Amino acid sequence: MQAGNALIEEAQKALEDAILYYRGQPVGTVAARDPNADTLNYDQCFVRDFVSSALFFLMQGKPDIVRNFLVEVLGLQSRERRLDCFQPGQGLHPASFKVEKAKTEYLVADFGEQAIARVAPIDSCFWWLILLRAYGKATGDLTLAHRADFQQGIQLILQLCLEARFDLFPTLLVPDGSFMIDRRMGVYGYPIEIQALFYTALRAAQELLLPVTSGTYLQAVETRLNHLTYHVRKYYWIDLQRLNEIYRYKGEEFGETVINRFNVYPDTIPSWLIEWLTDTSGYLTGNLGPGQIDFRFFGLGNLMSVIVSLATTQQSQAVMNLIEQRWEDLVGHMPLKICFPAVEGQDWKTITGCDPKNIPWSYHNGGNWPVLLWFLTAAALKTNKANLAYKALEIAEKRLSRDEWPEYYDGKTGKLIGKQARKYQTWTIAAFLVTKSLLENPNNLALISFDEDFNVNPCVQ
Ligand code: GLC
Repeated sequence: MQAGNALIEEAQKALEDAILYYRGQPVGTVAARDPNADTLNYDQCFVRDFVSSALFFLMQGKPDIVRNFLVEVLGLQSRERRLDCFQPGQGLHPASFKVEKAKTEYLVADFGEQAIARVAPIDSCFWWLILLRAYGKATGDLTLAHRADFQQGIQLILQLCLEARFDLFPTLLVPDGSFMIDRRMGVYGYPIEIQALFYTALRAAQELLLPVTSGTYLQAVETRLNHLTYHVRKYYWIDLQRLNEIYRYKGEEFGETVINRFNVYPDTIPSWLIEWLTDTSGYLTGNLGPGQIDFRFFGLGNLMSVIVSLATTQQSQAVMNLIEQRWEDLVGHMPLKICFPAVEGQDWKTITGCDPKNIPWSYHNGGNWPVLLWFLTAAALKTNKANLAYKALEIAEKRLSRDEWPEYYDGKTGKLIGKQARKYQTWTIAAFLVTKSLLENPNNLALISFDEDFNVNPCVQ
């Protein structure tokens, strides 16, 4: 118990040290504070990284930093409608920001124009909305979300992602590396990671928008939620039964009533999958597009789908069964695999562009990320499988402090500290604290979860 408390104190101190101040106010946390590694942009506050810190602050009854963050990031949102390919589209939120000091302090945002490989973030605006809703839940105060500038900010996000574009899917089409996996990893198209966040953000918007000023938006949100939910639950889902269906698919069907809607050829089923699935497990596949199912398992997308009820109750149980039954593969020596399995050989060359940071079983390509511990914990609580969370925490607790809170782990079962992992990575530290708080007080789950009371109309597509 004593050791446990010392660990919490150490983590809390490290999180305090990571706080970023702007004009005397706390506005976020920096990504990492590794004294021995190149800073690159890890000294900035990443929107996605701050979510873990923010949840802990909210659970601690310290909402001010979250409020400041929400206000400042809204101020950085791209506001002008532009016909300029080098400027972020209207409504977009930055991946990260930093404080510059001149005569006065000012914030500088990065929408991807500085980031490695110039990747633009799609997840930031969703995380911002999800956090805005969590702030309301934690404080019981919706006046911030109801402020005119916040309502407008939400509307701009919705315009950006609900607008009809080139494709005819309810899911959102995104470029490679536009979220947590921010390097080339073959995750362009319709990755589950983004669809789960898109869905969560729409549900948050549904709670926060004022009907008087946002009637049309609310209607559009509801319609999209219907289509999106149906599409993901039906077409992304894989279990033995569905695998059997796909295995016997015919191709080249044309028209309205086809069975193999996306013309997926059975030969694309990878051999590992057939043995990997059990009678009682299943998951949402990584990506679905024309002629393609990416059968890789992605941790964040699946856990988030469980937490926010994008997956049905039954599907959620099956996802947790998978984690339990494939524990070595998905948890191993550090919760949790970012994706499984790794791409190797010629696939690695083609898919990652020979990326030395994403070699097989490293970093985004099958590495284990401690930040996912809180997602696992929340999903376990949601499905009444708290024992899985305790088991995972026990594994993480033994190593995190000793290994100096690394960003990620390498190896098939996550035995090694990541080759280029930053130490004192803030979301690793915060994830441990959020996990502790969730287990101590499971009511905290309400900040991030959604119930399955949302009606899906099955005849819409
Ligand atoms: C890396 C990760 C990204 C994270 C950033 C800051 O680029 O891939 O998900 O936001 O580091 O920690």
